[in-house]
Amino acid sequence: MPLCSCAAVLNSSADRDECHFADPDSFDIHWRIDRHLAFGHGPNFCLGASPAGMEGRLALDEVLRRWTDWDIDYEGTVLHHTSTTTGWKRLPVVAS
Ligand code: HEM
Repeated sequence: MPLCSCAAVLNSSADRDECHFADPDSFDIHWRIDRHLAFGHGPNFCLGASPAGMEGRLALDEVLRRWTDWDIDYEGTVLHHTSTTTGWKRLPVVAS
């Protein structure tokens, strides 16, 4: 009979592991993170990691080019939790 083992990794939890990342809940755009699990790991590493990274960079570059003076409206933010990821359901910005 074949053996089957299943495991689920909570990537968003692993990426906030304080044993590996100092102050893991803070965001610092200058961090150089070389070991995160956003795109998985090993043989099933995300095939779209490279285009997804490029797409994110292009989108952010364009937003920052068009709107230079803004701030996050922290009162209006809503966290979005799924079983595997943590992010924002609502992240409104206001002109500053
Ligand atoms: C920010 C965007 C993305 C994130 C966070 C992401 C995340 C992931 C993660 C965590 C895995 C591993 C799943 C596992 O271990 O079972 C994965 C696998 C995969 N991703 Fe992505 N992904 C993204 C975008 C994309 C895009 C744009 C494509 C295709 C154009 C893509 C194609 C795939 C494929 C084909 C796999 C399966 C690889 C395999 O099992 O060999 N992903 N992705």
